[in-house]
Amino acid sequence: MDSSIANNRSTTSKWRKRSTNLQNYTMPLILLISSIIIVALFISSKTLFTPSILSISQNSQPIFHIQCADSGEKFLWYAPHSGFSNQLSEFKNAILLSAILNRTLILPPVLDHHAVALGSCPKFRVLDPNELRFRVWNYNIHLIRNRRYISMADIIDISSLVSISAIRVIDFRNFVSMWCGVSVDLLCTSDSSLHASLPEKLKQCGSLLSGYEGNIDSCLYASQDDCRSTVWTYQKDDEDGVLDSFQADDELKKKRKISYARTRKDVHKALGPSSAAGSATVLSFGSLFTASYKGSESHIDIQEAPRDQRIQLLIQKIEFLPFVPEILIAGKKFALQTIKAPFLCVQLRLLDGQFKNHWESTFLGMKQKLDLLKEKDPLPVHIFVMTDLPLVNWTGSYLGDLAKDSDSFRLFVLREEDEVVAQTAKKLVHAGNSMKLQFLSRNSDGMEQQCNALLLPDILLYMEETICSCASLGFVGTAGSTVSESIELMRKNSICSR
Ligand SMILES: *[C@@H]1O[C@H](CO)[C@@H](O)[C@H](O)[C@H]1NC(C)=O
Ligand SMILES: *[C@@H]1O[C@H](CO)[C@@H](O)[C@H](O)[C@H]1NC(C)=O
Repeated sequence: MDSSIANNRSTTSKWRKRSTNLQNYTMPLILLISSIIIVALFISSKTLFTPSILSISQNSQPIFHIQCADSGEKFLWYAPHSGFSNQLSEFKNAILLSAILNRTLILPPVLDHHAVALGSCPKFRVLDPNELRFRVWNYNIHLIRNRRYISMADIIDISSLVSISAIRVIDFRNFVSMWCGVSVDLLCTSDSSLHASLPEKLKQCGSLLSGYEGNIDSCLYASQDDCRSTVWTYQKDDEDGVLDSFQADDELKKKRKISYARTRKDVHKALGPSSAAGSATVLSFGSLFTASYKGSESHIDIQEAPRDQRIQLLIQKIEFLPFVPEILIAGKKFALQTIKAPFLCVQLRLLDGQFKNHWESTFLGMKQKLDLLKEKDPLPVHIFVMTDLPLVNWTGSYLGDLAKDSDSFRLFVLREEDEVVAQTAKKLVHAGNSMKLQFLSRNSDGMEQQCNALLLPDILLYMEETICSCASLGFVGTAGSTVSESIELMRKNSICSR
């Protein structure tokens, strides 16, 4: 995956990379040439087209037009990355920021697990915002072309937020059609040779949106702030402009030759209606990932909005966002009709990264819980197991022992190839929740459903999490796993009894 993205990268991104090397003698020359090109592009676009449409031309052939400031509607785009839990927490931050900044949120797709990675905030080693955005853009387009596109809002239910107008949304595919002036539907029609120039157009359009051509008055503001430089706050007036408590230490500064100062900034003052960014039709962020580290939030520190009732309420609402009904119904049905008895859920992360060396401690909590249950509950104890260890590899492990002891235990698993998983995935694709939301939010037609996913999305994890939230004998998760945290949250919100 990563290599195909690298090949897609435009020459502008290579320029960027090279121009950050301060020892490079050619830098002034490159800067001069690139500013001449940018000025030339700017002048030609001003003279050739109306102010609301800006064109990037090549050999005097306009490649694409972007639509700006036509309807007065303003949009927020961002670049999600890493695994699903990470993407979900970024999605929540995006909802929050789009409400604070009063912008229509461009709904992202679910990206494949770690298809795009950010890097490490504490180590000040992260992708530059432009580069991150462009990778994510290209990946999104790749998902559309391969008919694997599934929106975050097809999985996570935000209809309650949209119906009370807490946020406005637009599907990424519709946004691309509008903003790039091309029909994204054509990307996945059978006769793609008719539209040979489309991929190039989209690449140019994405490069622009990512910020490679800089900001464009009243059209685009591509934020260059990231977790190395900025902690976003809201309505904490005494903190605005103050240095954050977490800074790069001297050793790191020397090693990486950086002089970052991480500043706390009020996001509404910096990017809201009365700022330079405020007049831009599209505001694009890079990563909206945040996590606490050494007592400080890495990028977004908005826990409350004491003077803004609307935002305060939204913060409470987004703490937990449920899966869409199609997933919840299927998960509950599995618990009721397949397991058919009170059961324990265990979530065992055994193979990935840091987890592969901790089998013993991972199994220990489960053993203790089972010893208790065996004493006081009727046998066999029913257990739903979600684990990354394939069934064929259970032999010889504690799981293998349990599976053999059928007098005491009855084990259940859900697998990707199970019919119920495929059926639920089909229902999801057919429901097209994301497009419906947009209709609700914008009162406009959804797009033709030609580009619907043909390959079914991988929804096993969401169904497993739902089943675990129905486990009435309890839940044992893997310490430090985000999946475990999200199951605990679902259980706290009694998702199964709703
Ligand atoms: C928010 O944006 C909408 C749509 O662009 C606009 O009608 C409304 O007046 C804005 N609200 C505020 C408080 O600025
Ligand atoms: C699982 O079993 C397969 C087939 O026996 C084997 O090739 C593979 O290495 C095993 N994986 C683990 C993690 O034990």
